[in-house]
Amino acid sequence: MKRSMFVFCIASMAAAPAATLSAQADVSVATVAANVAAKRAGDAPTWSKEVSRIMQAKCQVCHTPGSIAPMVLVTYQDAKKFADKIKARVATRRMPPWHLDKSVGIREYKNDRSLSDAEINTIVTWVDNGAPEGDAKDAPPPMTLPDPAIWQYAEKFGQPDLIVKSAPYTVAPSGQDKWWRPEVDMGLTEERWVRAIEIKPSVPLGKRVVHHVLTTLQQDEGPMLQGLASSAMDHSPGARPMGAGLFMEWALGKAGEIFNDDAGKLLLPGAKLRWEVHYYAIGQEVKDDQVEIGVWYYPKGYKPKNRTILNMFNIAAGSELDIPPGQKTITQNFITLRGPARIENFQPHMHMRGKAAMMEAVYPDGRREVLSHVNNFQWNWHVNYIYADHVAPLLPKGTMLVFTAWHDNTKDNASNPDPEQWVGWGDRTVDEMAHVWVDVTYLEQDDFDKKVADRKKAALVKP
Ligand code: HEC
Repeated sequence: MKRSMFVFCIASMAAAPAATLSAQADVSVATVAANVAAKRAGDAPTWSKEVSRIMQAKCQVCHTPGSIAPMVLVTYQDAKKFADKIKARVATRRMPPWHLDKSVGIREYKNDRSLSDAEINTIVTWVDNGAPEGDAKDAPPPMTLPDPAIWQYAEKFGQPDLIVKSAPYTVAPSGQDKWWRPEVDMGLTEERWVRAIEIKPSVPLGKRVVHHVLTTLQQDEGPMLQGLASSAMDHSPGARPMGAGLFMEWALGKAGEIFNDDAGKLLLPGAKLRWEVHYYAIGQEVKDDQVEIGVWYYPKGYKPKNRTILNMFNIAAGSELDIPPGQKTITQNFITLRGPARIENFQPHMHMRGKAAMMEAVYPDGRREVLSHVNNFQWNWHVNYIYADHVAPLLPKGTMLVFTAWHDNTKDNASNPDPEQWVGWGDRTVDEMAHVWVDVTYLEQDDFDKKVADRKKAALVKP
C-alpha cells in the first residue's frame, strides 16, 4: 500500500452499498402500486393530461429537432412510437440523464432534472395501459423550443463577455480517438473575475464527435496561489496540484459552471487557454470543427471574496487500475483538506465499465457522511451534480474526503464491449479511468464559521 491510498479488487460487488442496486427494485414495486391505484380510480394517465407535461418539463430540452437526442418527443405521435423505449429508460432511471442515488447524501441540486417517483409511475402506467392520448383538448400548448446552437446561460446572463474558440480540427470518418491540444490566446489585457463559463461544441456535428473537453489556464500567477488554495491538496497522492489549473471541463450532458456570488475564477492579462478536445469518429468527416467557450465576467471592479479551484481527484492514482475480465472492482482514495472549504459540485468520470462513484466526508470528529453517490453511472453522460447553495458541503480543515469508484467488467454491464478483456487505465473509452471533478472554494476561517452559524440558524427556523 502506498501512502494513504488503498485499492480493493473483489470478485463480486457484494461489498458495494446496498443502495447501488436498490433503485430499480424500488421503481418496480412502486409501479405496481401505482398501476393498481390508477385502475381503481378509473383515471389512468393520458398523454394530453399528464405525460405531455412531464415531457415538456423534463425531456424536450434535448428531444427536439436539431438537439442532441436521437429522436424527438414533442407530439403524441412522436412519443407513442417510442413508448416501450421510454418506459425502459425511465423505469431504470437512465433518462433523463441524472444517475444519482437519491436515497443517500445531499438531496438538493441546482441543476436537478430527474423525474420524481410519481412522474416515473405516471409514465410507466401510461405505457402499460397502451399509451392512450386522451382528450386533445387537455394538452398544454406546445413549448417554445430552445435553439440548440445558443448559449444555455444567455437567458440568465445575456451573451457571453468573451468567446474563445479552439483551433479548427478535421475529424476523419473512421480511426482511433484523437486528442487535439491547441493553445489559444484569450486576448485579456486586464484582470477579470469570472462568474460563469459554458463550453459549446458546434451544432449539429460537433456535438456528435466531441467526447469531452478540458481547458487549462496558462497564466503567470506569481506568488498569488502560494497560499491555502494551492497547498490544500498537494500532499495527497490523489490530487493533482492545479495552480491556476483547469478552467473548465466539459463532457456530453453538461453545459457549464456558474459560481456562487461570493466566488469565481480569476483571469490574468495574457492568459492562454490550453484545449484538450477528445474527438471520436462517427463514420462521416467533420471538417474544421471548433469548440467554443463562453465566459461571463463579474462587473469591473467587483472582486468575489473567494477563489474557486477546479480539482481533479484521481481515485486511481497509484494503482493505474486493474480490472480483470469478468470481474467487478472497487477503487478508493482519500484526500485531507488542509483548510476550511465549500464543495460546489460532484462529477465522476469513468468509461464503459464505470458503474458507480461516491464522495464521502469524514469530519475531524470522526463523523462520516455520504455527500453524493452516483449509483447508475452511464459512461456517455458526464453529469455535473451542482449542490444547491444552502446544502453545498461546508467542511472544516482536516476533513477527509473519501472517493470510491466501482467498475463492472462482467457481461451484466450492458455497456461492456468485451467482458473477456482485461482493462487498465487509459485514454480510450475502452480503457478505464476513475476520477472526479470537484470545484473547491477555500474560505477564510471567520467566513467559514459565519457560514456554518448561518446554516445552523436557518435550520432552527425551518418548521
Ligand atoms: C440532457 C438531454 C436529455 C434529456 C433531458 C433527456 N434525454 Fe433522452 N436522450 C438524450 C440523448 C443524447 C440520447 C441518446 C444517447 C443515450 O442513449 O444516452 C437519449 C436517448 C433516449 C432514449 C433512447 C433512444 C433509443 O433510440 O434507444 C429514450 C427512450 C429517451 N432518451 C427518453 C427520454 C425521456 C422520456 C426523457 C424525459 C423524461 C429524456 N429522454 C430526457 C438526451 C436527453
